[in-house]
Amino acid sequence: MAVALTPPKVPGRAGELLAELGDRAELHDVYDETGSPIYHDFSLKDTHEVRELVGLVRRTPGAVLELAAGSGRLTLPLLALGREVTALELSGGMLRLLDERLAQAPGRLRERCVTVRADMSSFALGRRFEVIVLGTTSVSLLDEEGRAGLYAAVREHLAPGGRFLLSTADIVASGAPGSDATGAAAEVEAVIEAVGASGRVYRMHDHWPAGSATRTVTIFPATVGDDGPVTVCTTTVGVLPADRLESELAGAGLTVLSRHPLPGTGRYRDVLLEVGVTA
Ligand SMILES: C[S@@+](CC[C@H](N)C(=O)[O-])C[C@H]1O[C@@H](n2cnc3c(N)ncnc32)[C@H](O)[C@@H]1O
Repeated sequence: MAVALTPPKVPGRAGELLAELGDRAELHDVYDETGSPIYHDFSLKDTHEVRELVGLVRRTPGAVLELAAGSGRLTLPLLALGREVTALELSGGMLRLLDERLAQAPGRLRERCVTVRADMSSFALGRRFEVIVLGTTSVSLLDEEGRAGLYAAVREHLAPGGRFLLSTADIVASGAPGSDATGAAAEVEAVIEAVGASGRVYRMHDHWPAGSATRTVTIFPATVGDDGPVTVCTTTVGVLPADRLESELAGAGLTVLSRHPLPGTGRYRDVLLEVGVTA
């Protein structure tokens, strides 16, 4: 249900690279104490879905609950809207990074943010929010039981007329996992090189075999040298198409009011769902 902080077995080319590194490889979950600063560095400059999410939040005045807030990639832009934001996150490492960022932020932002360490599949904050946000396709980190808990908790925390905004990595064209936007068979393992906020260069392997309900993401440093330890981070996440999510939400008394397409990221077409409580 909750995020597993024991790294899974790494498949594909990333697994072979790990084997080649042998004892030098130190494998971590991407959100554990060692992985968190790497994920933070890797993702900090990523602006994916920020503009679209902030635009939708702007339409519904009131307090915001952000689930799976991480180190605040979305939290800071939400605070910049002038809202009260409660940022909920399970990983102690990620939450510490967010608290550090808030401590350095201007007081007018910091004073409107509360951080909470909790599991998004089971939380009780004792109040309601006009907007609940779950970005970065993080709903796919939960299994079916975890998602049922999430939907129930969202219903408990959403104010009348409020909006639940969540993104998922949609599957387009042929509808089959492993197909790209044109319906052609996508490569099983995509490799993306990215420069982190620190200037460090990373190589991310995204392993998604056709028909698989999960994908494995593994982040290596782009250069590993000839000796010394090499920190590698990995996570396995579900692939949750918008249609499936919409029918799960409907079963939990939540209605998708509209789908907002997000810019494509390689072989995925992410979509932002705007959800309200079923009348
Ligand atoms: C893909 S990251 C997104 C973080 C942030 N929203 C961003 O855009 O950078 C997913 C986050 O979900 C957190 N997470 C995973 N499972 C969780 C759970 N069950 N409850 C709360 N947070 C969870 C992870 O620790 C991680 O910080």
